[in-house]
Amino acid sequence: MNHYFATVARGLEPIAAQELERLGAKEVRPDFTGVHFVGDIALLYRVNLWARTIFRVLVTLREFACPDADRLYQEVQKIDWEQYLKPHNTLSVTATGGNDKLNHTHFTALQVKNAIVDQQRAQFGERSSVDTQDADVSINVHIYQNRCILSLDSSGTSLHRRGYRPAVGMAPLKETLAAALVEMSEWEPSLPFLDPLCGSGTLPLEASLKALNIAPGVFRRQFAFEKWLDFDEDLWDQLLEEAQSGELDQLKAPIIGSDRDPDILNQARTNAQQCGIAQQIKFNQIDIAQLEAPADSGVIICNPPYGERLGDASELGDFYKLLGDVFKQRFQGWTAFVLTGNKELAKRVGLKTSRRIPVYNGSIPCTFLKYELY
Ligand SMILES: C[S@@+](CC[C@H](N)C(=O)[O-])C[C@H]1O[C@@H](n2cnc3c(N)ncnc32)[C@H](O)[C@@H]1O
Repeated sequence: MNHYFATVARGLEPIAAQELERLGAKEVRPDFTGVHFVGDIALLYRVNLWARTIFRVLVTLREFACPDADRLYQEVQKIDWEQYLKPHNTLSVTATGGNDKLNHTHFTALQVKNAIVDQQRAQFGERSSVDTQDADVSINVHIYQNRCILSLDSSGTSLHRRGYRPAVGMAPLKETLAAALVEMSEWEPSLPFLDPLCGSGTLPLEASLKALNIAPGVFRRQFAFEKWLDFDEDLWDQLLEEAQSGELDQLKAPIIGSDRDPDILNQARTNAQQCGIAQQIKFNQIDIAQLEAPADSGVIICNPPYGERLGDASELGDFYKLLGDVFKQRFQGWTAFVLTGNKELAKRVGLKTSRRIPVYNGSIPCTFLKYELY
């Protein structure tokens, strides 16, 4: 059994922990911006392929006491690095955290890199070169008080970069956050789904991938673990085949995105094509003022502009009021969710919330508001 740590956006730890449990993770323990869990190599591959809400999975190599730089060097040299990389493989080291003596992440990373390449030189007379962009093996060193955790990054590029979105709107949600909001809403694929401010379509796209049982990792070019010395290609091919044969080809209920901006809707359609689901998902050009309910009941999730990145907060009050009026007058029987980073604007919706969930959109503290529309 290996120890793993999935990194996640602040606030998404509980939802990521639930997702990891569903994927078969054991001893799941949420922490600050991450979730600890244990499992075998098949679980590591499955989580990278299937997890919708996490950024990356780190594989713990060793945890040890580390009061200063000398001890760090000695402890890193105790690992037999030949198991993980040969001199012809490239490496990168990133450091996070710190303590009194190790308070420069750049220096901490250099110390780890030196300990590894010095071992290689002594053993083989040659050493790995550093590649900060696309290394064969990426090592993460985390210092916390007098402890150090050394890990390998199994994912590579963050998992929110699914690979289906070459085109992005003005202020797109990260795919991982969109998937987490869909989970938090408790929407089920048997219900209609609508995002009336869909921009580049991230929310309807993530809802569709879930509904069609499409693994979010199938669009990615590569995961870091595919370059590892112990990469089990047969196991990985089997997981990919299982994923592909389990895909559904029909939605049970409509998934619709609308927006008033035709250019951004074209981006959303391109993204749907990249996912191979352009025939399933509907993208319509509609201003929210003209929006009508497409069914008697369903779930709305949207993130209206809130002034941090788009438009001016003072001009958005009327827009939030309109949003609330449209929900109230035309969407009886639906449940609506609004993600906003502005509490004053949220009040202008003018409807009673039945839940308020704090989440972060990047560095912006936001609230995910739930409205039951009777
Ligand atoms: C913050 S963006 C949504 C981003 C989207 N979730 C994504 O991931 O790309 C808000 C969207 O609301 C749309 N919008 C603003 N006012 C609108 C209106 N009156 N009717 C319809 N759409 C509107 C904008 O065109 C923009 O695409």
